[in-house]
Amino acid sequence: MIETAAHMDKQIQKALSIDADVCQGHAKCVMNCPTLFAIDASTGKAFVKTQPANAQLAQEAEMAMHDCPERAISLTTNESRQDSVSEASRPCIDESMPQDIPRVDFDHNSREFAADPWRVYGELRASCPIAHTDAHDGFWIVSKYADVVEIAKDDATFSSLPTTVIPDTGVYNLIPLQSDPPDLQRYRMPLIRYFTPAALKKYEPAIRKFTSDCIDTFIEAGQCELVTQFANPIPSMTALDFIGFDPLEWHDFANPMHLLSYSADGSPEREQALADLVQIDSRIEDAIEARSVNPQADAITELTQYEKDGVRFSSKELHGLVKMLLFGGLDTTMAAASNALLYLSENPTQRQRLIDDPGLLPSAIDEFLRYEAPVHAFSRTVTTDVSIGDQKVRAGERVYLLWASANRDPDEFKNPDEVVFDRRPNRHLTFGIGAHRCLGAPLARLELKIMLEEVLRRIPDFKIDAAKVKHPETVTVIWGRSALPTSFTPGSRA
Ligand code: HEM
Repeated sequence: MIETAAHMDKQIQKALSIDADVCQGHAKCVMNCPTLFAIDASTGKAFVKTQPANAQLAQEAEMAMHDCPERAISLTTNESRQDSVSEASRPCIDESMPQDIPRVDFDHNSREFAADPWRVYGELRASCPIAHTDAHDGFWIVSKYADVVEIAKDDATFSSLPTTVIPDTGVYNLIPLQSDPPDLQRYRMPLIRYFTPAALKKYEPAIRKFTSDCIDTFIEAGQCELVTQFANPIPSMTALDFIGFDPLEWHDFANPMHLLSYSADGSPEREQALADLVQIDSRIEDAIEARSVNPQADAITELTQYEKDGVRFSSKELHGLVKMLLFGGLDTTMAAASNALLYLSENPTQRQRLIDDPGLLPSAIDEFLRYEAPVHAFSRTVTTDVSIGDQKVRAGERVYLLWASANRDPDEFKNPDEVVFDRRPNRHLTFGIGAHRCLGAPLARLELKIMLEEVLRRIPDFKIDAAKVKHPETVTVIWGRSALPTSFTPGSRA
């Protein structure tokens, strides 16, 4: 239906809201439309000042919604809110649904899949958007944007317990990733402070220094391996620094996580990674214990001291929270950087556009994140019998939410297989959506911006040796390149 301005003016049907839990106070909305939005000085978060009372304001609200880096803004019509509840595609209990189960041969851990997941996703979306696989004890695969969003937003029906990873390696005892409301809000609250604009401002000089130091180690040689020497250390050092570990010990944390991400289920490398990860658990336990007697200015100390309604976190909860910051902060951003660097090496005209117009970088980064999501999927466990589309799914079954496939859904993105730097809107699902939406997204974006800015400035003609790139051979969680041998015109240290 085409909505005319006159129609809107007469009926005032748009309801604007901001999810305070998700908003990180970027104030992009205020810049887009100061009539509608303002920032609450005490919380630093945006709020809706006034509802859009005419078509022009509704349009501005829509723009702000699309531009919000956190996707915290919702704009619904009174009508559509009613409709969405009864939509056929919305998960709902319906005893009359057909029972044929569309089985597919899908295993994201297999080499065949990792060779070209985008083709598999395209086929799933086109022919079987809600499908079932027998792999890893069986689970449902959801590949269309609208379905993934619907499920991710319904955390009562789709639980994040006991795990959100398939297969469960047993190492992801992460909080709040593996929690449901009301605990979820209790866990997220103390973490928000690490990703506010003020926190990012504090981290920025350190991220620039880590980036500059990394480039200094190889710039005179004219060659490097961009994962080990660049994409891996920078996010790792950044996260370790604010969490409360020594950034120079980044290998101890990053290497086992990296091995876990890139090794196949059951392989000797995976076994090695699992054994090494036990060391990380010990490091976390030791640090928590040490901070309770000797507080420092870091996240571990703050979480140890955090109290809500007179209750502190248990040692198990503390462990899960610190581990989440580590797992969230290291391999994910590394993978995103590796994917973007490879794309820029293979597409010199696009790279030149970013060199000529650095203002394009923030939207280009979101487009890289959409195009190759570094986290392909997370799962949910169904809490009650439910129908997704026309498939009946039973309580206890698992549902795999393919963020990476949703990001290439042509029903949401025009020309989804192309990288369009100024794509608008770009409501990709790389950071998830709903109550579990990634808290670290602003930090990841900042790290990527600094990393790409510095590469484009200091080694602008870098060329990755395509024949020697190590592509993923399995996709447990992470999608990124694990080796990017690179050459460039040598330069001088900063
Ligand atoms: C490009 C980099 C990143 C990607 C692709 C990414 C992706 C995601 C996704 C998809 C989720 C949602 C999980 C779900 O719905 O089940 C998530 C949650 C989370 N991420 Fe990130 N992340 C990134 C960077 C970071 C960083 C740098 C940090 C912190 C240092 C971080 C911390 C978190 C936390 C704490 C959660 C849990 C939120 C919750 O369960 O409520 N992430 N991330």
